[in-house]
Amino acid sequence: MRDVTKDNLTDAFKSYMGPDVNPRLREVMCSLVTHLHAFAKDVNLTHAEWEQGISFLERTGDISDAERHEFVLLSDVLGLSSLVDMLNSRPEGTSSSVLGPFHISGSPPLAYGGDLKGHFGGPVLLSQGLVKNTDGNPIEGATLDIWQTAPNGLYSSQDPEQETYSFHGLQTTGADGRYAFTTVKPVEYTVPTDGPVGDILNACGRHPWRPSHLHFIVKADGYRTLVTEVFPEDDPYLDRDTVFGVREDLIMRYQNMPAGSFPDGLVLSGSVTEEYLKVDFDLTLVKE
Ligand code: BEZ
Ligand code: FE
Repeated sequence: MRDVTKDNLTDAFKSYMGPDVNPRLREVMCSLVTHLHAFAKDVNLTHAEWEQGISFLERTGDISDAERHEFVLLSDVLGLSSLVDMLNSRPEGTSSSVLGPFHISGSPPLAYGGDLKGHFGGPVLLSQGLVKNTDGNPIEGATLDIWQTAPNGLYSSQDPEQETYSFHGLQTTGADGRYAFTTVKPVEYTVPTDGPVGDILNACGRHPWRPSHLHFIVKADGYRTLVTEVFPEDDPYLDRDTVFGVREDLIMRYQNMPAGSFPDGLVLSGSVTEEYLKVDFDLTLVKE
């Protein structure tokens, strides 16, 4: 097209797509560019603003590496990650929620009743529940990849003081479908703010806090993998999660358990003699 105008540019883009393009790619690209052009027109984008946007994306790329996933973080704080989760979530099962940039693969096995707290200080939390299907029946052989921050609010991959797999474990359910582990009560923490995403949050007058949570990836043969996180009902950031990860069905309640009531048969049995916290949270998987 030689007479490109602001009114026919979007159609020109569409007409330049080759005839044999994958139909889904055609749909996604044409929609993306339609919205991109509409956005530029809507705000009457200036050259200076366009340059600022390009420079922001360049800085986002520059700071990213195998451990730092700034584009994922950008998607998270814009709400795109949560929107994609919700578009692909099935209402019959436990809601999914953001994976976040701090999951690491290869977590060590954590036996039923095992402990993630180790030598770290802070309130003991006994987290337990049932992995079940949508009929309420237990799922045997489900694996739970569990991770959280240390009490300083840092994941092991952010903190040179922690072992690689501190506060990470992989538990497999037995015939009763149950999981149980001890850990330290999770704390609220901020997403990384020392890069371009931090600048955007700041410029938009937004805080960088996430409510405290436990992360789970639950897998079982024949079921859709569930990537989720659970949040205590009394967390001050529950209604203000900077990555929009909270869902009604992902809210858990801590029970204050009296001294002397810690159950037998767990790794910390006998050593937790004082008060502790307990949470029961079931996870429902949907068939593939
Ligand atoms: C997380 O929960 O680990 C997380 C999620 C999104 C952005 C940063 C951290
Ligand atoms: Fe997290």
